[in-house]
Amino acid sequence: MKAGILGTGHFVPAKIVTNKDMEQIVDTNDEWIRTRTGIEERRIAVDNEDTSDLAFKAAEQALQEANITGEDLDLILVATVTPDQPFPTVSCKLQERLGAKNAAAMDISAACAGFMYGVITAKQFIETGDYKYILIIGAEKLSKITDWSDRNTCVLFGDGAGAAIMGPVSEERGVLSFELGADGSGGQYLAQKEDHIFMNGREVFKFAVRQMPESSVHVVEKAGYHKEDVDYLIPHQANIRIMEAARQRLGIAEDRMAVNVNKYGNTSAASIPIALSEGVKNGKIKENDLVVLVGFGGGLTWGGAVALK
Ligand code: ACO
Repeated sequence: MKAGILGTGHFVPAKIVTNKDMEQIVDTNDEWIRTRTGIEERRIAVDNEDTSDLAFKAAEQALQEANITGEDLDLILVATVTPDQPFPTVSCKLQERLGAKNAAAMDISAACAGFMYGVITAKQFIETGDYKYILIIGAEKLSKITDWSDRNTCVLFGDGAGAAIMGPVSEERGVLSFELGADGSGGQYLAQKEDHIFMNGREVFKFAVRQMPESSVHVVEKAGYHKEDVDYLIPHQANIRIMEAARQRLGIAEDRMAVNVNKYGNTSAASIPIALSEGVKNGKIKENDLVVLVGFGGGLTWGGAVALK
């Protein structure tokens, strides 16, 4: 039995910070941010709202959509680079808050590709038959490691959480193929240095603009499909220009790609599950759709998958 997605959820903080607001913080302007990145505004968590709080709200919604409760969960995986603290993990905090008394719990650290690593890890446990229901979350409060005096990075990031419940679906549907990768030699291009994010934007751009389109095509071919068969693309929401490169390589129409980078900025591990949840709720992802999910991040890491709904 293949593993598939049974429910999704997402949550973003209420506080909106627009590009105009950013002009008051650093030497930047709306036009630069919009044209270079596609970002118009981002959500920023308030002081007493931590990563686990965002994750909890997304998880509740996903459980409801999957029509199961916390007690049904066998495993909780939380992908994050901004846990409340290194331990106890965000996943353990959720295990308690969700009443998931039968679940094991661990956090995954693979930066923006973290949710993809989570989905593929969950797939293994489900397809061996060892576990039935797994909660996978991407959740970040990047604002707490953002250097608000560095215009090269602070305009890019936002806070949020997305969640998915995975379980056995059928022999034909679910996650059909995947690719995961890492290249530690590029680690210096995107790193947490002391308390803040450091990024060599140009090097990350070059890597991402090559890797996302390549991985998208690989996973489609591995699943035995052609580019033309793809119904919906969910790329990591880092920069609209990088996302466009993946879309154009697959040759699919603009409205077949999930875009929320304009509203939320780059929410790292949360970006793909937020877009997935939005796609399910706004009806862009329909029954029988072939969906490509693909991301890249610090590490460097990357991951892609093809799922048939
Ligand atoms: N406002 C105005 N000017 C700025 C700003 C800003 N916010 N930030 C940088 N600039 C200036 C720089 O100082 C530089 O000026 P200079 O040429 O006088 O030195 C210039 O703009 C840089 O311009 P470009 O290099 O042409 O900018 P580019 O088109 O490369 O866009 C960007 C920069 C958006 C950062 C791009 O490189 C990018 O998106 N890189 C990938 C980032 C990314 O995907 N990160 C993923 C993070 S994933 C994770 O794991 C968290």
